[in-house]
Amino acid sequence: MKPIKKAVFPVAGMGTRFLPATKVVPKELFPVVDRPLLQYAVDEALEAGIEQMIFVTGRGKDLIESHFDLAYELEHTMDSRSKDKTALRGTRLKPGNAVFVRQQEPLGLGHAIWCARDIVGDEPFAIFLPDEFMVGSPGCMKQMVGAYEKLGGNVVCALEIPMEDTPSYGVIDPGYRDGPVTEVKGLVEKPAAGTAPSNLILPGRYILQPEVMRILETQEAGAGGEIQLTDAMAQMIGKQAFHGLTFDGKRYDCGSKVGYVEANFALALAHPEIGADIREVAGKLLAES
Ligand code: G1P
Repeated sequence: MKPIKKAVFPVAGMGTRFLPATKVVPKELFPVVDRPLLQYAVDEALEAGIEQMIFVTGRGKDLIESHFDLAYELEHTMDSRSKDKTALRGTRLKPGNAVFVRQQEPLGLGHAIWCARDIVGDEPFAIFLPDEFMVGSPGCMKQMVGAYEKLGGNVVCALEIPMEDTPSYGVIDPGYRDGPVTEVKGLVEKPAAGTAPSNLILPGRYILQPEVMRILETQEAGAGGEIQLTDAMAQMIGKQAFHGLTFDGKRYDCGSKVGYVEANFALALAHPEIGADIREVAGKLLAES
């Protein structure tokens, strides 16, 4: 079984739900307290033993490249003042391990992943959707790599949500269940209300075999007129092992304003330096509102 050493991060989206904040700043660089969302996803990948990060970017996303580069002036100044640089951990990857490709047109998540095909090559790989923020110990991808080492094939993260929310997501048609593992018998992208095969959705973490790239090559547009990753994955079911893993931890949907503010609030409350102050401030604000 080949280990998972590469991860693809689709980060080309325009982030229209967060305008005007996203007019210049990529939403993936929005902080949750003090670390950018994308940094948390990279931290999660590094913890899982992944070495090469492949970012599928687009026009206007150049700041992402700078974030993962050496900030010479900053580091030099911090060194000369003997400042602690712990906060910068994971922001500079090993030379050659931060790769950037551009998706030229917004043709869908499946198309974005396919843009990374030559860099992924012929090995299994991970995908992270960075606005799905996963907090766990061990992290979500490390838990998934553990499941992959036992089950092989393809492992997707699975999450139970209220049935009425399923039309916004990729949904699993479940087979047998064994603790946190669910057999994936089918996948549907954004089912119409009342038609979802379960309330188990795909919250943006995947371990996939490279065959998915071959399928994406000719994948036709699906839900929303976009080339969907879910449709390509669905074609691998029955040919390769395919499982969902319900991860032990908390997920914040940072693609929505409520989820993003919730993540900031939760992490601020749990923060060793500011947690107590935030609790006090929050109590006052609630009392005044
Ligand atoms: C994408 C995927 C969907 C997945 C979701 C998770 O949808 O297509 O299968 O469940 O991310 O956030 P999007 O949010 O881009 O519409």
